[in-house]
Amino acid sequence: MKALVLAGGLGSRLRPFSHSMPKQLIPIANKPVLAHVMENLRDLGVTEIGVIVGDRGGEIARALGDGSSMGVRLTYIQQDSPRGLAHCTSIARDFLGDDDFVMYLGDNMLSSGLHTIADDFRAFRPAAQVVVHKVADPRAFGVAEVDENGRVSRLVEKPQHPRSDLAVIGVYFFTAAIHDAVATIGPSARGELEITDAIQALVDSGADVRARVHSGFWKDTGKVEDVLDCNREFLDALAPAVEGEVDGASELIGAVRVEAGARVVRSRIEGPAIIGAGTLVEDSRIGPHTSIGRDCVLRAAGVDYSILLDGASVQRVGGVSGSVIGRDATVSSAVFAHCNRLVVGDHASVEVAA
Ligand code: G1P
Repeated sequence: MKALVLAGGLGSRLRPFSHSMPKQLIPIANKPVLAHVMENLRDLGVTEIGVIVGDRGGEIARALGDGSSMGVRLTYIQQDSPRGLAHCTSIARDFLGDDDFVMYLGDNMLSSGLHTIADDFRAFRPAAQVVVHKVADPRAFGVAEVDENGRVSRLVEKPQHPRSDLAVIGVYFFTAAIHDAVATIGPSARGELEITDAIQALVDSGADVRARVHSGFWKDTGKVEDVLDCNREFLDALAPAVEGEVDGASELIGAVRVEAGARVVRSRIEGPAIIGAGTLVEDSRIGPHTSIGRDCVLRAAGVDYSILLDGASVQRVGGVSGSVIGRDATVSSAVFAHCNRLVVGDHASVEVAA
């Protein structure tokens, strides 16, 4: 089985970060979303992976390389503009050949636990197998109607009046039958070739289309709140490790990872939290569910439930919570000041008044 990872989307809901980086590279627990995706695929035994990229393909290729560091082999496939998920399968046709494949949306974060779902697909080989997750409000997703045997009778993209609570998540298993189905569909109201329509075409032709429920964690990292939520979830599984320096006047509580070259001086860090390589944390308090990237500087800072991207700095500012601070951005105050939620784009500079 091969994989097709879709990383061409623009991520406009993730502004301001999507202005300066592809949303699929936002770090969750200090690792890009796409690296989590590749590791999930590798854990399913899938190593031959096509990656659909758009305008930001260069940055993605620089971050992931040929995939060998993650134990996979990546082939980049350029998409001229985001024309829908089904368009992606057609431009990947040469790469996919007639092989079975798993299509994985590059902004979806899942806990592990797809093994039995993947094994079922390999064993029974229905024409398509979607993965669904029960949600309170399915209107923002593809919605599957499924009978008691797990057979899909209908799929509707973002219905106003959903007839089930099963949202289609961004992982799909296909046999080559999907290619003929894609060839029969036209653009939707939003002007895209919807994979939902192609799967419905399979259902209409009488093909076997199955749904399997993933009850573990799942999130589409579309918005800043979702990114923080994912970060919390993945930090909850963090293994503590101290590779950097922690002085005697500092206190680490719970699962804290201090990466190589990081220094913690006169500070209190309550895990789960990661302090990235080369970062300085001095006279600061870091609260749970915080990821601090590489080469950041925190001096007299108070930060919890937040993500700092590489090179960010927070100086003489406390109370930073539910925040994402971009690459090389600075948040500072002349004398110690409190603030609250901050969403600061890359290279921005914010001065907080006392
Ligand atoms: C896409 C699919 C939708 C699915 C969702 C999962 O939506 O079209 O069926 O439920 O991904 O994240 P989009 O994110 O393109 O709006």
